[in-house]
Amino acid sequence: MCGIIGYVGDRGAVQILLEGLTRLEYRGYDSAGIATVMNTGFQVVRRVGRVSNLAHTVNELHLGGHTGIGHTRWATHGAVSEKNAHPQQSTHGLFNIVHNGVIENYIPIKSFLLKHGFKFSSDTDTEVLCNLIEYHYNKEKDRENRFVKSVQKALFHVRGTYGLAVLCKECPEELVVARKSSPLLIGIGDNEIFVASDASAIVQHTRSVVYLNDGEVAHLTKDDFSIITLGNDNVHAVTCELDWQVEDTDKGPYEHFMLKEIFEQPVALENAMRGRFSDDYSTARFGGLRMSAHELRQVDRILLCACGSAWIACLEAEYLIERYARIPVEVEYSSEFRYRNAPLDKNTLVFIISQSGETIDSLAALQEAKRKGFRTLAITNVIGSSIARESEGGIYQHSGPEIGVASTKSFTAQICVAAMLALYFGRIRDMSFDDGIRFVEALRMLPDAVKKTLSQSDNIKKIAEKYAEYTDMLFLGRQSLFPIALEGALKLKEISYIHSEGYPAAEMKHGPIALISEKCPCMFLATQEHILQKNISNIQEVRSRHAPVIAVVADGHESMRDMVDDLIVVPDVHPALQPIIATIPVQLLAYYIAKSRGCDIDKPRNLAKSVTVE
Ligand code: AGP
Repeated sequence: MCGIIGYVGDRGAVQILLEGLTRLEYRGYDSAGIATVMNTGFQVVRRVGRVSNLAHTVNELHLGGHTGIGHTRWATHGAVSEKNAHPQQSTHGLFNIVHNGVIENYIPIKSFLLKHGFKFSSDTDTEVLCNLIEYHYNKEKDRENRFVKSVQKALFHVRGTYGLAVLCKECPEELVVARKSSPLLIGIGDNEIFVASDASAIVQHTRSVVYLNDGEVAHLTKDDFSIITLGNDNVHAVTCELDWQVEDTDKGPYEHFMLKEIFEQPVALENAMRGRFSDDYSTARFGGLRMSAHELRQVDRILLCACGSAWIACLEAEYLIERYARIPVEVEYSSEFRYRNAPLDKNTLVFIISQSGETIDSLAALQEAKRKGFRTLAITNVIGSSIARESEGGIYQHSGPEIGVASTKSFTAQICVAAMLALYFGRIRDMSFDDGIRFVEALRMLPDAVKKTLSQSDNIKKIAEKYAEYTDMLFLGRQSLFPIALEGALKLKEISYIHSEGYPAAEMKHGPIALISEKCPCMFLATQEHILQKNISNIQEVRSRHAPVIAVVADGHESMRDMVDDLIVVPDVHPALQPIIATIPVQLLAYYIAKSRGCDIDKPRNLAKSVTVE
């Protein structure tokens, strides 16, 4: 999704903007641009392709200016081209704007502006918004607040979503920013101020941030800022401190963020669990649920909504909560829930799971559940994110920033949080003290078990390189390993572009077996003892049709090596935690296959880290 960076201060804006855009690259984009404003007017440079293309041109031009904005564009309206890249300038050159989101009513606004003499050079909705601001600026009588008022009045007429930053030629030391459904935060420095669509763009400069809320417009200068609503009410800004460092957004010794984040999982799991076990270690505890045990006992159904890997984590949560807390659970794609009008019991508790906390479908599902009066909780990784702030409580994953587009440490952390929730709900219902103790012991040993699994990365790399040229692959698992089959397929397809599907292993005979041949390798996730024989039967069915087979099994089943082409043996852990352990091989397999194919692993084509447009 698009990225925004803005700066006003004593330093040169250009390098700050370019560095910020570089740190926003992971969000996915196809063009980039910056604009600075000086007393002599605007300097604007836009380029299709990577930020490095833009930086090369900018550095040749030796741009100046202490106030500026920058943007990485993930095309919505208008093709990928320089004219459609941001910043977009108004017809009479008074404004430049960068915008994330979609202006839904841009067509009638554009025809209105055309009748009032405005011209358009791009196909974007953003240029329409820029000209609408200029239109209001020309009519604004309040000369003192003319800039912020013109943005406020323009937005009054806009339907849609936006995170935006605007420069005005006549106010070269000011920025006006606004947000509605597309995240934006203000970073507060010493005699300088920043704006960004996510904290990774500015964390190296400041960790004091103010998250804008929907419908808020902020007026920034280097040593002050004010926030008003579209309805002209003053807003009291709440400053937060970011809980991570800039080092967390560097690759360190790893070639890709994805590999770094795969290997960060032991620490990420420790962070997800830190301080969350009861004193007698028989259950979990959460500070942010804001629901008493009595209230939670009234819950008779749990609905989980998410997208992508987070949705798969919800499937895992369903197994865990139903198995250990005996509460019925439903899982919905956020994008489906928001329109399905599902009949829910009055004591349904709705959880939204979202790493970024900004996925627009999941935010909309949260808002729909709240509109219907359901209690809403969130599991998310970004403090201060829209979903974190709009839910009535929740649990932070504390995974640290996840930069790679493919979700890895966040996915296993979400399952770990779900396991702790299942334990907590179970222990306020029927789970015994000693079962609780055993569950907590298993959780506390989990990071070491993950570390041990990661130590097989060289073996998995060798296996992966054998399968890098296939064009299809099936992932198969039963029960709580079925969602991991889905996750393995998602990882492989999104970073290596190999067509891959995940299925319940027994379901293979109801269709997918037609795909089986020597050209379609299958990966079996078969760590469960009690259904191993069933998985072995499926493996034999596949092998008899000449398909290559990779199997992931638990310690003690090395003898299966003769039944398959490649075997990965992982630690035998508590049944509730086997899915997390089995996730490591599928992540590493996808990574090393994609690496072998020379793919852009951290920034896969067409994908974005957080889908903030519908
Ligand atoms: C997973 O690898 C993808 N990056 C994608 O499916 C992601 O999980 C999905 O977009 C949800 O993102 P969220 O957790 O930030 O809401």
